Amino acid sequence: MPETPDAPIEIEDIGSNPDPRRPIGELIAERLSRRGLLGVAAAAAAALPVMAQDTGNTPQGGPSSLGFPELRHQLSQRDAVAEGHEIQLVIRWGDPILPDAPEHDPHRQSAEAQARQFGYNNDYLDFFPLPQGSRAAERGLLVVNHEYTNTNLMFPGLGSGREARARVSAEQCAIERAAMGLSVVEVRRQDGRWSYVKDGRWNRRITVETPMRLSGPAAGHARLRTAEDPDGTRVRGTMNNCAGGNTPWGTVLTGEENFNMYFGGEAAEAGPQAAAYKRYGIQKQPIFGWNRYEPRFDLDATPNEPNRFGWVVEFDPYDPQSVPVKRTALGRFKHEGCTHAVSADGRVAFYSGDDERFEYVYKFVTARPWDPANPAANRDLLDEGTLYVARFEANGTMRWLPLVHGRGPLTEANGFASQGDVVIEARRAADLLGATPMDRPEDVETNPANGRVYVMLTNNGNRKAEQVNAANPRAANIHGHVLEIVPPGAGTARVDHAAEEARWGIFLAAGKPGIDPGTQYHRGISNDGWLSCPDNCAFDSKGRIWIATDGAPIAAGVADGLYAADTSGPGRALTRLFYQAPTGAEVCGPKFTPDDRTVFLAIQHPGEDAGSTFERPSTRWPDFREGAPPRPSVIAIVRRDGGAIG
Ligand code: FEO
Ligand code: CA
Ligand code: CA
Ligand code: CA
Repeated sequence: MPETPDAPIEIEDIGSNPDPRRPIGELIAERLSRRGLLGVAAAAAAALPVMAQDTGNTPQGGPSSLGFPELRHQLSQRDAVAEGHEIQLVIRWGDPILPDAPEHDPHRQSAEAQARQFGYNNDYLDFFPLPQGSRAAERGLLVVNHEYTNTNLMFPGLGSGREARARVSAEQCAIERAAMGLSVVEVRRQDGRWSYVKDGRWNRRITVETPMRLSGPAAGHARLRTAEDPDGTRVRGTMNNCAGGNTPWGTVLTGEENFNMYFGGEAAEAGPQAAAYKRYGIQKQPIFGWNRYEPRFDLDATPNEPNRFGWVVEFDPYDPQSVPVKRTALGRFKHEGCTHAVSADGRVAFYSGDDERFEYVYKFVTARPWDPANPAANRDLLDEGTLYVARFEANGTMRWLPLVHGRGPLTEANGFASQGDVVIEARRAADLLGATPMDRPEDVETNPANGRVYVMLTNNGNRKAEQVNAANPRAANIHGHVLEIVPPGAGTARVDHAAEEARWGIFLAAGKPGIDPGTQYHRGISNDGWLSCPDNCAFDSKGRIWIATDGAPIAAGVADGLYAADTSGPGRALTRLFYQAPTGAEVCGPKFTPDDRTVFLAIQHPGEDAGSTFERPSTRWPDFREGAPPRPSVIAIVRRDGGAIG
């Protein structure tokens, strides 16, 4: 079957930084065709082996400290993990989590049911131990983002790709809104098996309709006011929650990423905010045309609504009644996630990537130290502090440039009348400061073992030879790389995450060694250990990095997966393949329990292959039930002998 032109959309990287600018339509067309060109069409994918499990391990070897036998690169309708481990299904799209929620029935969906069931396209996940404050590893709250929807795989009869989205009805659109946001769900491990608690008292759904508060320098700003919220301090819902993070005081942070794909109208090109919309990739005709059904997504009816998205949202997972707060001090952009690192002086840095081609890496540093003894004192710590953007120099140093109103070019003359303006248009402020345009910054995570900060730069096929810089050294970087930032005092008790200077280097440059130009790994890398498109990452308690990918080159027979490597010692940057995702899926999370005996993974958009439809998906993972579509799901991986992973 020929590849169809209407490949499903992977929606993360339509560049809108004006400097290396190309027409937005061209970027979208290229993006739309990416999975189609590189990908296997649904019919071909359907011919993939259904069973791949445990068939392809290569022996452990080399100087790595990791003890698992490496998996072989392979494509399959099913997922696979290194020998000696077990995959346990924890929760799937549509599973009931609130009282009276119906069981999932893909042929009889409703917005009401979906708002009480686990959402779609699970991305960020976190594990908050129960009881609260403990280091329990067998019972906790799973907090999960639901980033977006694969319309063509959710609903019957729509076909595939962009056409499917154009055919969505008002009711289906409402179901999609209920399928996004977050879930909080209690999970337990009993007799070695993980499962979720259907009626857990902390279980919660947060959707595009959940009431929230705005705080910080942009709260109440004229550009945040709407007819529904004349004060500019209350907003309905959160969306495109990609990755996230947590705080030392036990709250969740969730990143609002590709919100631009949902707003549309004439004002995108002609209105007074057209330039600002454009800098954030907002278009007249968006890919998900919610503006057709909901006036608040119509720029002509509600021009300020998009300014109320693109923030980091904080909430308390242990209080299902808590009102989430959009913390505007952390800036407005396409937040991949937001992860913290505590400085020696107690102030807390929050790192965040703006996931788009040629966008930037940011950090926010609290004005005050956090207080472990006084939870109330930390409640609004994220409202006061300094937002910075990164500039990487060729000599291996870097600077964090403060985005502070009145400093440097961030003045009224340049359209910044207040700090509110600076955070609302953080991208433009960062442009003026001379930040370094990166190759799509995804997760930014600190390794607790060495205090170094690892930046996943997933890819940037659009970078031209004349646009390379030391921190993004490859043109047409389709495989991405991982940067390592070394703050002053890293590896000691005096680590300073609040400092305005640091050193940096490249930890690895992805792609296939010997085939792709400019790859960089440990020289002992195996045929199966190389990776492409790093997206999410985590560290086990030994400080080893676990990298999850999104965008593997399936034409090379490689699926997205989870890879692990030492970050120091003789096995540094020797990545090894641990888990392989089902076709079409990316791997998110990962999250270890405090004892390292379980790693949770969010398997997002299984079956997102060219031509894949509800009726004929490229995989029916994880249920493999005839007539039913694939279901994004959270899995737990444990060792069969009960030991620590890795
Ligand atoms: Fe939603 Fe940046 O991946
Ligand atoms: Ca994602
Ligand atoms: Ca991501
Ligand atoms: Ca991604």
